[in-house]
Amino acid sequence: MLFWTTIYTHKIMFTLANVHNFVEQQSIKAYKIYQLLYHSDKILFKNCSQMSNAKKSVYVTRPDVAAVGLDILKKECDVTVWSKCEPVPREELLKQIVGKSALFCALTEKIDKEVITRAGPQLKCIATISVGYEHIDLETCKSLGIRVGYTPDVLTDATAELTMALLLATSRRLFEANKDVYNGGWKPWSPNYMCGQGLKSCQVGLFGFGRIGQEIAARLVPFKPKRITYTTRNKQADAATKVGASYATFEEMISESDIIIVCCALTPETKEKFDKSAFTKMKKNCIFINTARGGIVDQNALYEVLKQKQIMAAGLDVTTPEPLPLDDPLLKLNNVVILPHIGSADIETRNQMSQITALNIVAALKDERMIAEV
Ligand code: GLV
Repeated sequence: MLFWTTIYTHKIMFTLANVHNFVEQQSIKAYKIYQLLYHSDKILFKNCSQMSNAKKSVYVTRPDVAAVGLDILKKECDVTVWSKCEPVPREELLKQIVGKSALFCALTEKIDKEVITRAGPQLKCIATISVGYEHIDLETCKSLGIRVGYTPDVLTDATAELTMALLLATSRRLFEANKDVYNGGWKPWSPNYMCGQGLKSCQVGLFGFGRIGQEIAARLVPFKPKRITYTTRNKQADAATKVGASYATFEEMISESDIIIVCCALTPETKEKFDKSAFTKMKKNCIFINTARGGIVDQNALYEVLKQKQIMAAGLDVTTPEPLPLDDPLLKLNNVVILPHIGSADIETRNQMSQITALNIVAALKDERMIAEV
């Protein structure tokens, strides 16, 4: 009986594999029927030992994620890892995803409908080693019942810390001054040389007041700013009270702040929220910091206001595109500090992000609660 069950199961699987190429081109509705067929087939033959004992297969798009995550996956799953320490080419991803039950990805991969449906109906989970998940087509995942994992919380402190480092580097012109040490620009002490803006007595506006925004606010307090405001869709009275922050509308924040810090998610509502109109309303001494996503800013508009010195300076850990091409005009300006998207780049944090991404996958494959699910 077991023999015939196995033969029959393989036959059905072969048929499913053939219809797969056709179905993936069709609508989500057709795809769902395909998915249903696949899963009912598994339920029907759940006694087939060969099927139930098989390890679930996972594709990992980076070989250089912390080993702790890969080790967790290798114990539980059949793991295939992209071989190079660079983003996996799209064609390779489309090839490798076929037949996988889970995907371990990074923010460098666009996980759209084509990738998701190419995997096949067995795909249960996509887990990204990032707090941002705008690179994943959530709508398609939702409609196909594919669970999505991410890594909030563990990178909050690292990102808040990096934001403070970038703010101080920009406001006190650290990189500009440091260059002078090497290029002969360092002359005997001079009263106006490299004067920047101290944080004391400044009004700081946080655009976004989630986990990271709140931790930035807490780190700002010891620098004694005059006022901290936050701008979000929903007021966060309790969290704001803890750090002495008050709510400001977007218009108030952009026109009153000496320092503006962007720490929100990239969504259709925040996309290019900081455009020409916003930048031209800012104070001349304003310092603009972005450690969230490049897409929240109209970068050409930012370039213009920095060039015309309509605002004082900008500190960016994120840009569009990434990496920024070496001939980008922003790189020619003295009043901008650019970092290569290193907000969460501390060793302990990256270890935890790898571990959580793997645990998210293992949990989803067992139909259990994930550590962090979108
Ligand atoms: C980094 O930008 C992240 O989303 O984790």
